[in-house]
Amino acid sequence: MELTLAITGASGTIYAHRTLQLLAASGVVETINLILSGTAATVAQVEMGVNLRDADGAKINSWLGLEAGSKLIRLWRLDNLAAKPSSGSNKQSGMIIVPCSMGTLGAIASGAGTNLIHRAADVCLKEGRKLLLVPRETPFNAIHLENMLRLSRAGAQILPASPGFYHRPKSIDELVEHLCFRILDQFDIPHSKRSQWTGEEVVEPPA
Ligand SMILES: Cc1cc2nc3c(=O)[nH]c(=O)nc-3n(C[C@H](O)[C@H](O)[C@H](O)COP(=O)(O)O)c2cc1C
Repeated sequence: MELTLAITGASGTIYAHRTLQLLAASGVVETINLILSGTAATVAQVEMGVNLRDADGAKINSWLGLEAGSKLIRLWRLDNLAAKPSSGSNKQSGMIIVPCSMGTLGAIASGAGTNLIHRAADVCLKEGRKLLLVPRETPFNAIHLENMLRLSRAGAQILPASPGFYHRPKSIDELVEHLCFRILDQFDIPHSKRSQWTGEEVVEPPA
């Protein structure tokens, strides 16, 4: 399976980090086309203390804890509109944008394909391939909400970075991981733990 994953400048670099690790561990993903926006590197520095600006493949592998020679991640420059994900003839399974800023969301909703992230997302929509957006902002204004509706109507899937608590997470890692499991579930990609709710007996409070 080949996928494209883009990291943009919304809060939540940790979601991208964990999703990439889970994709790498899944055993079914052979190639991940990775694209970072300029602000993604700023947020990664602020939130994870990692310098991803002008990162090369070796730096990304080290950040993800992958083997130095791993060829799983194929890193593409944001301004490279001749890159593989920018063509509909590249038969990949789809694209994940995690986290997705309101800026990127708006650009995709407008149909402007001016950088590789916007273009690759536009290609997924026009080719009928899965486009999964993990938006993060709070609160949303009417423009954000309208853009999400517009994208949903165009075929994108909106999976907001709003983690649940029903699995009783004991750490931030568990909280993050559960959301990342939901991302993998959308592509039927296996992961180590279950994310499906299997039901629970409701215990009535004592009278
Ligand atoms: C530390 C930091 C956190 C940010 N958090 C968010 C956020 O949660 N959501 C959002 O839409 N923008 C956020 N922004 C603003 C975006 O990075 C900014 O709008 C940027 O232009 C988005 O560009 P991009 O989509 O190309 O990455 C944040 C910026 C910084 C520096």
